[in-house]
Amino acid sequence: MPEVKAHQIVLAARPQGRPKPTDFRLEDTPIPTPSEGQILLKVQYLSLDPYMRGRMDDRKSYAEPVPLGGVMQGESVATVIASKHPNYSEGTIVLAHTGWRTHALSDRADLRKLDPAVAPVTTGLGVLGMPGFTAYGGLRVIGKPKPAETVVVAAASGPVGSLVGQLAKMGGARAVGIAGGAEKCAYVKDELRFDAVIDHRDSDFAARLAAACPNRIDVYFENVGGAIWQAVLPLLNNFARVPVSGLIAQYNDVGKGDGTDRLPATMREILSKSLTVRGFINYEFAAEYYPAFLHEVGAGIADGRIRYREDIVNGFENAPEAFIGMLEGRNFGKLIVRVGV
Ligand SMILES: NC(=O)c1ccc[n+]([C@@H]2O[C@H](COP(=O)([O-])OP(=O)(O)OC[C@H]3O[C@@H](n4cnc5c(N)ncnc54)[C@H](OP(=O)(O)O)[C@@H]3O)[C@@H](O)[C@H]2O)c1
Repeated sequence: MPEVKAHQIVLAARPQGRPKPTDFRLEDTPIPTPSEGQILLKVQYLSLDPYMRGRMDDRKSYAEPVPLGGVMQGESVATVIASKHPNYSEGTIVLAHTGWRTHALSDRADLRKLDPAVAPVTTGLGVLGMPGFTAYGGLRVIGKPKPAETVVVAAASGPVGSLVGQLAKMGGARAVGIAGGAEKCAYVKDELRFDAVIDHRDSDFAARLAAACPNRIDVYFENVGGAIWQAVLPLLNNFARVPVSGLIAQYNDVGKGDGTDRLPATMREILSKSLTVRGFINYEFAAEYYPAFLHEVGAGIADGRIRYREDIVNGFENAPEAFIGMLEGRNFGKLIVRVGV
């Protein structure tokens, strides 16, 4: 029998509403052996992202759900520890879709290699990876802010929202962030240098948002949905653009919400204001924009114009609890697990 050293986290049960720790199961597995053409990866950092909540439900979406008992999906920064593939030597650090595993085999010829001399490798999971590209692609292709326009984004301290606001400002627009709690709001205003920030937990949130947007809103980058969208909708200008990136406030919803059907009012606004509301999944834009994204955002990080924050949790076994917390706003910055086996 091979020695058991690797670990994986599987979907033990489909969550009803908010996920529980018992919806996940930590399993031991043997460390796999690479065949010809394969590499063996040891995961250093596992990315936790909001989209994973959708994969836990058995419903039709843009991607297949994780089957019960299947390994949770996800991207990681990993080191090649054994190689039978000509493109990879031992010690190479790559970005890979390993899932929630400590070790994984890959036969891909196109993994992105990460150079720690260029940027900290964890940025490949955040500002210089999928979430950063979501901000870049959604803004560039759909939002298209012009100088002096007002761009609003929620989850503004997170990896998508923080870059949306900073890119908007770099293009000459006015950035208004929405975040949960005083500490996150201070970070968005003082460190990320947004023009204004509003705490969505304030009882007079809608009035404060209106006051922070004297010229109303030209681009609303939708990360959250729910009550924030309801406060934004009446403030949208004619011809406003709404890239719909995510709806995290709704990911744990069960059934049809609170029973108030707001779709007729929403459609009226879309029609009467000639709004552009477009959903997107970041990889739609990858072929055309990924190299420009890496170049522009990489340069912004190198010279300090773009700032980012990571929330690194220690221990592979703590991934479920950290993930559950992210859906309630307990993370502060890009959520990453340091696997450290
Ligand atoms: N379309 C795509 O290709 C794509 C790709 C990546 C991400 N996304 C989406 O982009 C959004 C942001 O993702 P991210 O990776 O940057 O993660 P993130 O900001 O770290 O997301 C978690 C944050 O969402 C906020 N949040 C959670 N529940 C909320 C609620 N009920 N009301 C208001 N805010 C809530 C919390 O921030 P506060 O405490 O500040 O509220 C929490 O810290 C998500 O909706 C995600 O699904 C889309």
